[in-house]
Amino acid sequence: MLRSSQYKHLQDELRRHEHLYYVLDAPEITDAEYDRMMQELKALEEAHPELVTPDSPTQRVGGKPREGFVKVAHSGAMLSLDNALDEAELRDFDRRVRELLGDQSYTYVAELKLDGLSLAVHYRDGAFAQAVTRGDGSVGEDVTENTRTIRSIPLRAKGSFEVRGEVVFNKKAFEKLNAERELAELPRFANPRNAAAGSLRVLDPSITASRQLDFYAYFLIPPRPTQWESLEALHAMGFKVNSHRKRCQGIEELVAYCKEWEAKRDSLPLEIDGVVAKVDSVAQQAKLGWTAKAPRWAIAFKFPAQQAQTLVEDIIVNVGRTGAVTPTAIFTPVNIGGVMVGKATLHNEDEIGRLGVQIGDTVLVERAGDVIPKVVRVVNEGDNRRPFVMPTTCPDCGGDVVRAEGEAISRCINTNCPARLKESVLHFAARGVMDIDGLGEVLVNNLVGSGLVKNVADLYKLTLDDLVKMERMGSKSALNVLKHIEASRKSTLNRLINGLGIPFVGERTAQILAKTFGDLDKIMNADEEELKKAEEVGPKVAHSIRQFFDQPANRELVERLRHEGFVFTYEVTRQTGKLQGLTFVLTGTLPNLTREEAQQRIEAAGGKVAKSVSKKTNYVVAGEEAGSKLDKAKELGIKVVDEAELIGMMA
Ligand code: IVH
Repeated sequence: MLRSSQYKHLQDELRRHEHLYYVLDAPEITDAEYDRMMQELKALEEAHPELVTPDSPTQRVGGKPREGFVKVAHSGAMLSLDNALDEAELRDFDRRVRELLGDQSYTYVAELKLDGLSLAVHYRDGAFAQAVTRGDGSVGEDVTENTRTIRSIPLRAKGSFEVRGEVVFNKKAFEKLNAERELAELPRFANPRNAAAGSLRVLDPSITASRQLDFYAYFLIPPRPTQWESLEALHAMGFKVNSHRKRCQGIEELVAYCKEWEAKRDSLPLEIDGVVAKVDSVAQQAKLGWTAKAPRWAIAFKFPAQQAQTLVEDIIVNVGRTGAVTPTAIFTPVNIGGVMVGKATLHNEDEIGRLGVQIGDTVLVERAGDVIPKVVRVVNEGDNRRPFVMPTTCPDCGGDVVRAEGEAISRCINTNCPARLKESVLHFAARGVMDIDGLGEVLVNNLVGSGLVKNVADLYKLTLDDLVKMERMGSKSALNVLKHIEASRKSTLNRLINGLGIPFVGERTAQILAKTFGDLDKIMNADEEELKKAEEVGPKVAHSIRQFFDQPANRELVERLRHEGFVFTYEVTRQTGKLQGLTFVLTGTLPNLTREEAQQRIEAAGGKVAKSVSKKTNYVVAGEEAGSKLDKAKELGIKVVDEAELIGMMA
């Protein structure tokens, strides 16, 4: 039929131009021509909805927002790579390969290490089917709908396979996004990687669609006989593959490649933080195998932190949710490896003393990977330098600022300080606490500023009318915020405890308290001795909890939350997992899971996590830099496992 062939032709042409533009960076037509073709296709689809296929170029616009992300297990673990921090460590990698495979020269594929977010993309029967974030390495989040909006990911490809690669933001798109956010008075993203994560892990695909995300493929499953051929195949299938890849014969060529790109990194449109080297032959890769942490056939050569010098124009203070008054250095903005840096926290008076930094000094500032910029040292003392003096009154409310004995941090002691209030509302609404999406800095400032919100319980009194009166609030976003506020009433006890913002009580302690006492009333009424019986709760934390609940204002807040329908009891899920009856002790840094994640997963599988090793311990899970607990385990003859083995036990 004419119409259907016209439709297919138009689709194919759009696909071809999309590839030329987004993957090859070599457009043949103008943007306007492209838009015109897209409009034509849309018009055709509107007139004939029966023609629309899910892989049509029109389907990238982003569907409906979702409620949350679904967890998906990876086909094989998405582990990370071992790092080589200098040339010697890179040579060590080659030496290990030669020791294991036989002493000869090996072929390595060198690729630039893009600083983004790794993603597994699945194709089934020729079509883009699913995309999953790395998550903890074994289980990630389904971000299929968001990923569909990334133009450099083909919606069609031959056969069924998996591609792994990196979702990135180029430096220009990153700067543009941040400029837009500044105009909208939204907080800037700290680096392109955060921007990529913040754009992919959103519930509304239309947000992802509006951002200029890119995807570079670096891994094909099943692979071709060599990594090089896999990359070539990916390129041929229409994926973006970094064009600076190189097949290096032996270690000398590899070292030269790393040196070359370390010097040239700033010239690239993308943020890179090193070079990834992989043994080219897949047969050799198989012989080398994997450690629990990473493949033995690959290494990440990490570039050193990027540094720059700049002037400290001022040192200002910020008031946090616990009243902590934190000094922040304000710099003459400086470009550090493609990212503009204008400030860095100085933490506290002691740190300022240690650095010896004063206003007017020139300092060396460093930005290492995902780490927030930090002042390394003073390089030049300014002629008219002037020391920072911690204010004695709060810049926001005029309350007293006090530094308790033995503490490094100064605090505003007025519990009704608006700056503290704003921070506490933001903490309450944060992801992982009450998950109130849309309740960001600007809205909280306005709500607190207008007097509508005097504590977090006031959130539950807000109406649509109240919200739409706030600056930059449409009724759609207002409804969305209300929906999330409503949903948060059903939060668990541990999230509620965390949300209260008791000093020294974070996610983990909140979890322990909820489990130990089972009931918020019991925690509120416990004395310090009783509180200390809970695991990991020492005198300092117990004192802080007691002090918090002794404040009438805090008790009143809790009563109001009770009235709003919050659950005050801990709901125990019946556990019949694979680790039922087993006790674990965690030590050292695990490659993928944080301590909290590991503990949660062990508990979810029915196991217990203890703090110290004893005869009752069944397994010690050891990561990097495991300390005395590991020695103790060996002494008592307790079985030691690594992260991968642990995950295996739970599978
Ligand atoms: S290979 C087993 N290749 O770096 C294969 N990773 O530190 C593991 N990355 O999690 C990945 N560019 O997010 C590989 N060309 C590249 C890469 C790359 C960036 C990231 C990736 C990975 C991390 C490892």
